[in-house]
Amino acid sequence: MKLVIDTDPGVDDAMAITFAALHPDIELLGLTTVFGNVTAAQGTRNALYLAERLGISVPVAEGANIPRALPPFKPSVHVHGPEGLGDLPAPEPTGKAIGESAAQFLSRIARENPGEIVLCPVGPMTNVAAAIDLDPDFIKNIKSIVFMGGTLDRHGNVSPFAEANTWHDPHALDVVLQSGADITMVGLDVTMSLILKAADFSQMAKLNPRHGGFLQDISHFYLEFYKTVGEAGCGFHDPMTIVAALHPEMFEAESTPLAVKLDGEEIGRTYRTSGRAPVRVCLNLDVERVKATFMDALATN
Ligand code: BDR
Ligand code: CA
Repeated sequence: MKLVIDTDPGVDDAMAITFAALHPDIELLGLTTVFGNVTAAQGTRNALYLAERLGISVPVAEGANIPRALPPFKPSVHVHGPEGLGDLPAPEPTGKAIGESAAQFLSRIARENPGEIVLCPVGPMTNVAAAIDLDPDFIKNIKSIVFMGGTLDRHGNVSPFAEANTWHDPHALDVVLQSGADITMVGLDVTMSLILKAADFSQMAKLNPRHGGFLQDISHFYLEFYKTVGEAGCGFHDPMTIVAALHPEMFEAESTPLAVKLDGEEIGRTYRTSGRAPVRVCLNLDVERVKATFMDALATN
């Protein structure tokens, strides 16, 4: 699978990138960065660092630092730590981002690989909407979009209604939902059905001291945050999205036209609508197989 991840790394983003880098059936063609958990500049730095420590040579293109229409947000320091990687100090990668913006890179890589690119946005959708603005052929050129965000039947995680990625840029998501792309939503309905605890990160470290050990190192801060909101562990948000892109058969999805609230108390809420092309919304999963798929990638690399 030819994959591009649009990301705001981020502890669970780092898990997603690690899985993508290690899985033998994934060809990771690029990382694009966006504000969210961190600033876009921090995200670019973290993405470069993660790629370097994973030993992969992959272009990193920096994207939007502010939402499409809403005022800017501050990074989610209380969730992902001051630099986005839990307690870790700011990493110092040696490489640099490429000269293209995220939207330019997305447009080009899709054009160069027509019908082949699976795009996994695991942060706010700002860059993807920008690529749609930039390139009228972008949606035609990509294979599919499998995104982390939203919730249909579960409460939100930043408001009673909204999940963080949709909260951060509902206007961009609404552009994407009306684009006619082949879209799968991996939202809190499924990502909060797989809760990782400290013991799971210990297992990662045991299976793969270098890469699993790093994920354990960055997990402590994240797990502490989840405790403060009454959860027994952290959600498996972004890594699950990559697993869903690779193994849709491990998920049960509802096909429905989808929209997102653009203002008011429910801003960022994803909801069933009509009059649009349907998207697949994952509502159930084989928890053990999804988790095992992630752990196996660590174990064999
Ligand atoms: C999503 O928000 C971010 O904090 C995570 O990285 C994930 O993409 C979960 O709501
Ligand atoms: Ca993310």
